[in-house]
Amino acid sequence: MRRIIIQYGGTGDLAEKKLYPAYRNLMERGYEFELLALGRRFSTREEFLASLAHGAPPSFLEHLHYLHYDMNGPDAVSQLASAIMALVKGTSEVELIYYLALQPSLYEAAIGEIKAIDATLACHCTLKKKIIVEKPFGFDMESALRYNTILEQAFTDQEIYRVDHYLGKEFMQNLLLMRFHNDIIRRIWDNQTIESIQIIFDEEHGVDQRLGFYEQIGVVRDTIQNHILQIITFLTMAEPASISFEDIAIEKQKVLRSISPIEEFHMGRYESLGANSGRVITTPTYAAFKLFVNTYYFAGIPIYVRTGKMQKKAKSLIYIKFKNTTREVMHDESIAENGVIITIHPELTIDISMNLKVPNTSWKSKPVLFRFNQSETFGVNTPEAYEQIVEKILLSDKSLFPTMEEITESWRIVAPMLTDDAPVEVYPVRTLPRFTQAMAKENNFTWFA
Ligand code: BG6
Repeated sequence: MRRIIIQYGGTGDLAEKKLYPAYRNLMERGYEFELLALGRRFSTREEFLASLAHGAPPSFLEHLHYLHYDMNGPDAVSQLASAIMALVKGTSEVELIYYLALQPSLYEAAIGEIKAIDATLACHCTLKKKIIVEKPFGFDMESALRYNTILEQAFTDQEIYRVDHYLGKEFMQNLLLMRFHNDIIRRIWDNQTIESIQIIFDEEHGVDQRLGFYEQIGVVRDTIQNHILQIITFLTMAEPASISFEDIAIEKQKVLRSISPIEEFHMGRYESLGANSGRVITTPTYAAFKLFVNTYYFAGIPIYVRTGKMQKKAKSLIYIKFKNTTREVMHDESIAENGVIITIHPELTIDISMNLKVPNTSWKSKPVLFRFNQSETFGVNTPEAYEQIVEKILLSDKSLFPTMEEITESWRIVAPMLTDDAPVEVYPVRTLPRFTQAMAKENNFTWFA
């Protein structure tokens, strides 16, 4: 079978930084496919290849084709259809994988075009197809549902892959295994033991060359509606009937359905956003909020989240804080809290803190960390998230993709954060917006980092 990935957004940031390295690694691992990159930036394949600065090997480049392509051009459909036909000529079995790494605002047009191409292809072959859509899927619930209706006119749900690359991350998959392969954890993972949860995702970089994309999107659509809510489902879902995609999806959906639209939130924007563009851009780049998962096992546990760009240090972690009943029972204010700290960046580690006796004291304890370090234990050879995602697509395995129901529920949850009239605090680069501390004070907690 001849497989062709048709890369919309083929000269964009995502393709260049994440997808091409993933494709290249997969080819090195023996997967066979051709790549047709579509873009407006370069007029010729030579220019396009010259732009891929990282010395890609010839074995990869010979499978990388390029079409200078304007989706709005009058001949767009026939142009792309003939480029595809040239690649499939003489083949009896073909799989076309349309990968949309585009602004959501271009989805409607792209899907319409793919439908038209589909109708004109006459390859005299068995033709299979898939469509891959990047997050955010839509701008809000209404547009997501609309895009989906259009998609489903041309593709079955089985052929549609909605990407959230966080599901391809090792730490996400580890969260599920840590919870469901360890009775000791399973028994303490609920509102009897857990007091609160913090999710911190601070990024050092800014919007950089992605301004055009980001200014229409903002932090809520960029990471909260997808990555952060997916993390929350993995942290709080009940045990699935099996580890199958369908059973996991059922439990994730229950979590999302139990979360009310987020009402307690704050937004910020770093001071220099778009400074070189000569325009004032008000898109939020930072947010902090609180939500509850209203299931029997998690009701009452506040989940505090803060995430955004241009911070002093890149750091991503999840802190599960346990209740400290011991302090009251022992009448000793010095007894520290226990917790689990899952650090994702800069390094994947899991710490469990326990209070143990300080030698040469009478009954004084101090928190001691029991640490798992992914790379020390298993080596540093875990595949990048996108490599796992693309591999699953090639294998027609839908286990690492959010369902449309999950995406719809997620839009419902973040809806109040999408209104334009929410105040946006302007923060100097490399500092946290002031509202993060105000929120902690109001809710009587301290950010873990
Ligand atoms: C992407 C967002 O989906 O995720 C980026 O568009 C963000 O803005 C990125 O920086 C974070 O992903 P990772 O894999 O670097 O943690």
